[in-house]
Amino acid sequence: MAHEKFRYRTLEELTAETERLGISLPLAEDTKALAAPVSFAGRTLQSRMGIAPMEGADSLPDGSPSELTLRRYVREAEGGSALIWFEAISIVEEGRSGMTQLMLTERNLDAYKRFTEQIREAGRKANGYAPFLIMQANHSGRYSNPQNRPAPIIAYRHPEYEKFRAADDSCIASDDYLKKLEEQFGKAALLAKEAGFDAVDIKACHGYLLAVLLSAYTRPGLYGGSFENRTRLLKNAIAAAKPAEDDAFLVTARIGIYDGVPYPYGFGVSPESGADFDAAEPVRLVRELRDESDFSLLDLTMGNPYVTTHVTRPFDSGKYVPDEHPLTGIARMIGGIGAVKQAVPGPVIYASAPSYLRQYADLYSAGAVEQGLCDGMLFGRMAFADPDYANEIVRDGRVNPGRVCLTCGKCGDLIRSHKPTGCVVRSPEIYLPYYREFLKEKEALPANFRG
Ligand SMILES: Cc1cc2nc3c(=O)[nH]c(=O)nc-3n(C[C@H](O)[C@H](O)[C@H](O)COP(=O)(O)O)c2cc1C
Repeated sequence: MAHEKFRYRTLEELTAETERLGISLPLAEDTKALAAPVSFAGRTLQSRMGIAPMEGADSLPDGSPSELTLRRYVREAEGGSALIWFEAISIVEEGRSGMTQLMLTERNLDAYKRFTEQIREAGRKANGYAPFLIMQANHSGRYSNPQNRPAPIIAYRHPEYEKFRAADDSCIASDDYLKKLEEQFGKAALLAKEAGFDAVDIKACHGYLLAVLLSAYTRPGLYGGSFENRTRLLKNAIAAAKPAEDDAFLVTARIGIYDGVPYPYGFGVSPESGADFDAAEPVRLVRELRDESDFSLLDLTMGNPYVTTHVTRPFDSGKYVPDEHPLTGIARMIGGIGAVKQAVPGPVIYASAPSYLRQYADLYSAGAVEQGLCDGMLFGRMAFADPDYANEIVRDGRVNPGRVCLTCGKCGDLIRSHKPTGCVVRSPEIYLPYYREFLKEKEALPANFRG
C-alpha cells in the first residue's frame, strides 16, 4: 500500500475514490440529521455530536485535573458538543497508563467536583446548555505504565500484541485479581456519580484489560474460553456499577467490536473469517447488554491503537504505512457499527472515528445517522483540532475546513510519550514545545515504537 494522503478537494473527488475502492460511505446532502436532538433514558441531548475520549496526559501527580486538563474540557464544552465522553480515567494506580493519566480517588474527589461544575458552567454560559458528561473508567492492562515505564497486566499471552509490547507469564492477571477489579468498577461508578458526571463508561475497547478479555479464548479458568467467561469481567463490572444508576446517573460502555487481528487473538473475528470482521459475537454482546443490563446508550469502536492503529483511527500515513487505504478503514468502522446497530434495535448507539474525513466528516456523520447506522457520532482528533466543530455545524451548516484535523499523528506521538497531548498543528503555542521534546527523545526509541 502506498502512502495515502487526504487529497479530495471536492465531494465528487471523494466519492470517485470510494467508487474506485469498491466501498460506500454514507454522505448526506446536509448536516441537519446531526443537529437534531437525541433522547435516551429520559434525557434529551441538543444534538447528535459528542466528543470522543481523548487522553491528554496532563493530570497532576495525584490524578486530579490540571489547568491544562481544564482548558481542554472548557473549550470542548464551549464548542457546543452535546456530550463529552471523557478520556480514560484510571480506577486503580497499577492500571494507570502513565504518571499523568487522570485517576479518580476518594482523596481527589473534590477536585473532580469542581472540574465537572466548571465544565458545565462553561457550556451553559457559552451555549445555554451543559453537555452530558461521561466518565470513562479504565484499567490499562497491557498498557499500564504507572511510573511511565511498562508494567503490563495482561489477560493472556498475545503474540500479535507482544510484537509491540513485551510481556511474560508473570504479567498474567489472576482470577482473584480480576474478581477484585469488578468491585473497583463499582466503586469507580459511585465516585463518578459523586464527582458530578452524568454517566460512567465501563470501558472495553482498544486492547485495554476489559477489552482483551473478550478475546481470551486461550485463557483457562473463569475469565477465558467460552463467550460467557470472556464477557464475565465486563458484565460483572457493569453489575457492580449498576447500583449507582438513577434518574440522574447512567451506566454505559464503549465497546470494541473488532480487534483487527486473527482468531484466536481478536474479538469480532471468527475461526473462519481470518482477520475479517464477524458481527456474530459483537451483536450477541450488545444484545445481552441491552436485555440483561438495560443499556440505553453505547459507543462502539474498533481496533487496538498500539497495534492496528489504522483500524481505530484511519490517518494520513507517514512513517507507518498501513496495509489498507484509510477510506477502507472508515467503511469497515461504520459498516461494522451499523451491522450491530441494525441487529440490536433499542439503545442509542454512537459511532467513532470520523476525523480522517476532515471537512466531509460532518456530511459523513450526518449520512450515518440518516441511514440508521448510528444515532450519533463521537469526534476525536477533530475535537482536539477544532473544539468548536459542533457550534460551526449548527450555526453555519458545515464545519470550518480551515480548522479541521489533518490526522498527522502528532497527538498520538505525544500521548505515547506521556506528554501533555492536544493538537500540535492548531494549538502550537501549547503543544509544539512538547512535540519538540518528543522529537529529541525519539532517537532513543525502538524502530517499531507504537506506545
Ligand atoms: C491522542 C489520543 C488519545 C486517545 N485517548 C482515548 C481514550 O482515552 N479513550 C478511548 O476510548 N479512546 C481514546 N482515543 C481514541 C479516540 O477516542 C477515537 O476513537 C479515535 O481517535 C478515532 O476517532 P477520530 O477519527 O475522530 O479521531 C484516543 C485517540 C488519540 C489520538
